[in-house]
Amino acid sequence: MKLWQGRFEKPISADADAFNESLSFDKKLLDVDIDASIAHATMLGECGILTKEEAALICKGLNDIRADVAGGLAVAGAEDVHSFVEGELVARIGDTGKKLHTARSRNDQVATDMRLYVRKSVKAATSALKELIEVLLLRAKESARYVMPGFTHLRKAQPIGCGQYFCAYCEMFLRDLERFEACGKRLNVMPLGSAALAGTSYPIDREITQRLLGFDEISQNSLDAVSDRDFVAEYLFCASLTMAHLSRLCEDTILYTSDEFGYWTIPDEYSTGSSIMPQKKNPDLPELVRGKTGRVYGHLMGILTMIKGLPLAYNKDMQEDKEAFFDAEYTLLSCLSIYAALMQKITLDPNAMFEAAGAGFSTATDVADYLAKKGVPFRDAHAATGKLVRYCLEKDKKLTTLSLEEFRTVSDAFEEDILTAVTTRASAEGRNSVGGSSREAVKKGIASVRRRLKKLTSEE
Ligand code: ARG
Repeated sequence: MKLWQGRFEKPISADADAFNESLSFDKKLLDVDIDASIAHATMLGECGILTKEEAALICKGLNDIRADVAGGLAVAGAEDVHSFVEGELVARIGDTGKKLHTARSRNDQVATDMRLYVRKSVKAATSALKELIEVLLLRAKESARYVMPGFTHLRKAQPIGCGQYFCAYCEMFLRDLERFEACGKRLNVMPLGSAALAGTSYPIDREITQRLLGFDEISQNSLDAVSDRDFVAEYLFCASLTMAHLSRLCEDTILYTSDEFGYWTIPDEYSTGSSIMPQKKNPDLPELVRGKTGRVYGHLMGILTMIKGLPLAYNKDMQEDKEAFFDAEYTLLSCLSIYAALMQKITLDPNAMFEAAGAGFSTATDVADYLAKKGVPFRDAHAATGKLVRYCLEKDKKLTTLSLEEFRTVSDAFEEDILTAVTTRASAEGRNSVGGSSREAVKKGIASVRRRLKKLTSEE
């Protein structure tokens, strides 16, 4: 029997019922739905809208349902999670159960449930991000003395400290963590008490339910409160940007572990093979994470599109927020967790990275800087070094093994010290500016990430 059957002569047809139902997926809200109902019933009791005994009976019934579901009771046979809980309650405690829905609608109920649920999901996302950052910080620390190529346009650009590489991702994930925390703060506003759309004539006390449910604020417009899913869109945006960052790390992983690069190795336990080519060791996990990024973006687009045409206030379109959200949440958390494991297990090849860092004339900027520091205007220094690179290309030579005479063919400013001043390691080590690639700068970078991470997670 439907909660709304009274007005109808005939029952809903089976196909319409199956199409309309949400219990198959919104049963994930069962716990928060019971939390919100207990708070609502308690408030009704304290305000004298129900007797204290009625409220207590309802709360006990609700707790029993929670325990029974945890013990294996099937959540089935109702239109949605709200109807399921109410149906179970009435079956257990009789007519008193029918009073739970006083001064409430499924519209403010589902809006409240979703906020409570997303609030928990935000916490799960921030702790998963924290774990990943911790792993990357460790990698940064232990690889601080390694030098690797830094790229622009995926062409070798300048040698960099390996620690700086890992810290770059720490910065991205730290911003994601910060964004999720802000999202969590903004969503902590309680819609309960807005009823269907216009508020209620019962003398409810919204501060009681606010306190019981741990909301920071109470919504100030019931029309908006029941139809606001901005927080779902916001979570999905935070998740999308996190996935974008993960996906970039995946791309690097796939490149760096290829034969062509050979900087990192993925251990066997985190690799896969080919059913036909016996020699293959494939980076399926990073590829999958990169692939799943699109699916999270898709959910964000879905929600934004769902919201944009809704006339005030509640519309059933909003039921679509759930599957999108649950799938994005699962995808995000599983990707963060597998990547934390993967980054922990990956092995680095310092020699391969160092050798690669010195190739491709990657110290050319340092040669130009050498000249500029001897008083040659940088633009002229750049042109002279460019000529040297051309010379090396023609003669199949390296910048690091030229003789002083060869250097001096492009500029008189070169002196004996050029033969020792420009090396791969000195190049990375020389960039000591704040946020730069030297070991000293990276040490400070790691400390700075740690400080901000601590500050963010201690505020929770
Ligand atoms: N399953 C519905 C949803 O997720 C619950 C709210 C139903 N409200 C209504 N007026 N039909 O949105």
